[in-house]
Amino acid sequence: MDLKFEHGGITNTQITKGTLMPTALITGASAGLGQALAEALARRHWHLVVDARGRDRLAAAAAALTSETTVDAYPGSVTDPRHRTELVTAVRRAGGLDLLVHNASELGGSPQPGLADLEAATFAQVLDTNVGAPVQLTRQLLPELASSGGTVLAISSDAAVEHYEGWGAYGASKAALDHVIGTFAVEHPSIRWYAVDPGDMRTQMHQAAFPDEDISDRPLPETVVPTLLRLLDLRPPSGRYRGADLAVDTTAVVHS
Ligand SMILES: NC(=O)c1ccc[n+]([C@@H]2O[C@H](COP(=O)([O-])OP(=O)(O)OC[C@H]3O[C@@H](n4cnc5c(N)ncnc54)[C@H](OP(=O)(O)O)[C@@H]3O)[C@@H](O)[C@H]2O)c1
Repeated sequence: MDLKFEHGGITNTQITKGTLMPTALITGASAGLGQALAEALARRHWHLVVDARGRDRLAAAAAALTSETTVDAYPGSVTDPRHRTELVTAVRRAGGLDLLVHNASELGGSPQPGLADLEAATFAQVLDTNVGAPVQLTRQLLPELASSGGTVLAISSDAAVEHYEGWGAYGASKAALDHVIGTFAVEHPSIRWYAVDPGDMRTQMHQAAFPDEDISDRPLPETVVPTLLRLLDLRPPSGRYRGADLAVDTTAVVHS
């Protein structure tokens, strides 16, 4: 079901102050990094298509964005093909897509089991959420992304390249996500493709990953958003980036 949060008579024609509004689709935008990025793009008056599974939290997050922009919010899981089609339909109704953010993610248990104890269904669920669904959603939206010369931003993790006890399923899924983003990049070079490791952030997912730890020393997800915005603004070559490098070393971002 579509929760609509249009305001001020502005509709999906995407016209505000005489200029075309860019459109972003952000998965998992009711909390954490997805919500923080949605808020930042709303302040830039991007039209937003957002989702998350929890209806009430998504409705609250979307309602908070409407003072800045227009929002189409769809409760559902990225793993549900019918829900993905809802998102694609919303994008097409908006007239196109400039940015697709694969942010929604599944940890695979709290605490996360070692591989010896990992149920097949859990492994499949983590892979489906973190890489299967992003691939399918991307495939469906390739025409819109090619038409706009748009950007795909996949939120990765250091667990994609490091090996930590209990992080086998999640790490494998993020490694696979990095890989498919790199392959899309060579297959569709008119689109920019980024896999970004944002670093540790003080979020619900991080607390679930470290259930017995006080995570109050971890940075808030809002601190990563300027890095992501700089990436989107500068549009360096497609590739895998670490948020920490982009944040402190601007030479890491090179114009193509
Ligand atoms: N936090 C960290 O330290 C950290 C470090 C490295 C990478 N990351 C990555 O950063 C991204 C954001 O993580 P976060 O820490 O901000 O997480 P978070 O605070 O737990 O937020 C996750 C968001 O995704 C939604 N979501 C989860 N599963 C979904 C699904 N199947 N379909 C649609 N929406 C779904 C959640 O809402 P519902 O639960 O209502 O669906 C929520 O809005 C993830 O890709 C994560 O892997 C995080």
